[in-house]
Amino acid sequence: MAKIITVTSGKGGVGKTTTTAALGAALARTGDKVVVVDFDVGLRNLDLIMGAERRVVYDFVNVIQGDARLPQALIKDKRLDSLFLLPASQTRDKDALTEEGVDKVIEDLSRHFDWVICDSPAGIERGATLAMRHADIAVVVTNPEVSSVRDSDRIVGILDSKTLKAERGETVDKRLLLTRYDAVRAARGDMLKTEDVLDILSLPLLGIVPESPDVLRASNFGVPVSIHDPDSAPARAYNDAARRLKGEDLAVEVPKQKLGLFGKFLRRAA
Ligand SMILES: Nc1ncnc2c1ncn2[C@@H]1O[C@H](COP(=O)(O)OP(=O)(O)O)[C@@H](O)[C@H]1O
Ligand SMILES: [Mg+2]
Repeated sequence: MAKIITVTSGKGGVGKTTTTAALGAALARTGDKVVVVDFDVGLRNLDLIMGAERRVVYDFVNVIQGDARLPQALIKDKRLDSLFLLPASQTRDKDALTEEGVDKVIEDLSRHFDWVICDSPAGIERGATLAMRHADIAVVVTNPEVSSVRDSDRIVGILDSKTLKAERGETVDKRLLLTRYDAVRAARGDMLKTEDVLDILSLPLLGIVPESPDVLRASNFGVPVSIHDPDSAPARAYNDAARRLKGEDLAVEVPKQKLGLFGKFLRRAA
């Protein structure tokens, strides 16, 4: 049976889809069988980030509505043999995902994969609660800013009340992934410090992903950032996070401020 991960946040634009693709590829790279599932009906971002947008024929909603069988909708990754994508539908009908339909698809997937990673839409509405319903582990993606932390805190409340685990009296294993962490702005005090975010949310830290142009570059190539340039700082952060998900006890590094030429000049001038 698969471990089911939901990548969630409440707020949009914090890095959920980037994280889903990056963790999926990082886990598949170790040989595990992984499927990433796009719950963001109408937006369809995950297929773009995975570079699979031209291969989408059938999607999640087609499977639920019985127009396609699950294997027809799964897209195999071009680079990693054990990585698959179940794309979202472009329909405008947000109610196209039904609870029974989602239950059946996730149960099917969990029989065939080691990891099922659900990419949640923004908000706390139906799409987000459907995405977290089956979660064993929730990766709460948070940026070091007040609005993001506040929305993550709301999501934690929902994870503790509206999931299948909560209904059974169990708890979802919640991990904080701090993303878009900018060491320069943190040093200036323009961003919340890691300790402050940890204090407020009080969740175990899965990792800290730095703000980096490598993320946009990888997404322009349609390659998950964790495998695009594995030596880049965000790739290392995501690969380490995947190792922690697999149970390794690795210390989390807080990204340091790297001074470019301009920064060195400014420091000298100061
Ligand atoms: N670590 C990062 N550094 C720089 N840009 C990032 C980082 N993580 C995400 N982004 C950018 O932020 C935007 C939103 O990311 P996305 O993963 O789509 O967020 P969400 O799924 O939460 O809406 C995208 O343009 C993405 O390239
Ligand atoms: Mg997204």
